[in-house]
Amino acid sequence: MNLLVMGPPGAGKGTQAEKIVEKYNIPHISTGDMFRAAIKEETELGLKAKSFIDQGALVPDEVTIGIVRERLGKDDCKKGFLLDGFPRTVAQAEALENILNSLNKSIDYVINIKVDHSILLERLTGRRICKSCGATYHTLFNPPTKEGICDKCGGELYQRNDDNEETVENRLNVYVKQTEPLLNFYKSKGYLKHIDGQQHIDHVFDSICQLVGGNDK
Ligand code: AP5
Ligand code: ZN
Repeated sequence: MNLLVMGPPGAGKGTQAEKIVEKYNIPHISTGDMFRAAIKEETELGLKAKSFIDQGALVPDEVTIGIVRERLGKDDCKKGFLLDGFPRTVAQAEALENILNSLNKSIDYVINIKVDHSILLERLTGRRICKSCGATYHTLFNPPTKEGICDKCGGELYQRNDDNEETVENRLNVYVKQTEPLLNFYKSKGYLKHIDGQQHIDHVFDSICQLVGGNDK
């Protein structure tokens, strides 16, 4: 099963992706996670991406498309994949079509997680992530049992650099201008499915499973 998860920053893409990849046993390909890992390791890619991410701007298309092309060519994507946070521009979506054509693959569903923009700021500024396993929490909406500690692995929780109020505002503006137009691109191709992202996390997941569940590709 080949899935794309879309939605504004804070819609719950990463939260749902964690659950989907576990249930359907497909790799989770998050360009944001790939960039953050590269920044942590201080690689050339990380150096290129850091200033864009810190400002809440998009990393240039040529950089982003290159890493996705390489990742989708890996063996573990033969059984399917979940793309989270890519594509984010029309140029990226067109490049993805070319990459998938060359690999003889196609998209099964584009899942758009819909959330009202008025609640995204609170979701993002309250987000905490595990340093060791990457699990996502929220101080109010999905708190760990012990403050600051991951339930899954005991790792320390931290706040992302770009989850401050000012950068979040930029990220939301960039989403509206550059990424939202993609919804029409996928609608016209007939792949687009909307999911209400304002339900409880488990109910959002149930809705996604109902949508893709009957598909055994
Ligand atoms: P990326 O890492 O992709 O960030 P994003 O799109 O801004 O999305 P987030 O990870 O912030 O949100 P999410 O939807 O995953 O929400 P989450 O599940 O964590 O990108 C970061 C940066 O990298 C970009 O700004 C850009 O610079 C660069 N980049 C990445 N991809 C790129 C590309 N393709 N091209 C160019 N540049 C690129 O949930 C948020 C919070 O809400 C959590 O605390 C969670 O616990 C909580 N929550 C989740 N669901 C619910 C719910 N149903 N109810 C209540 N709370 C909930
Ligand atoms: Zn953890």
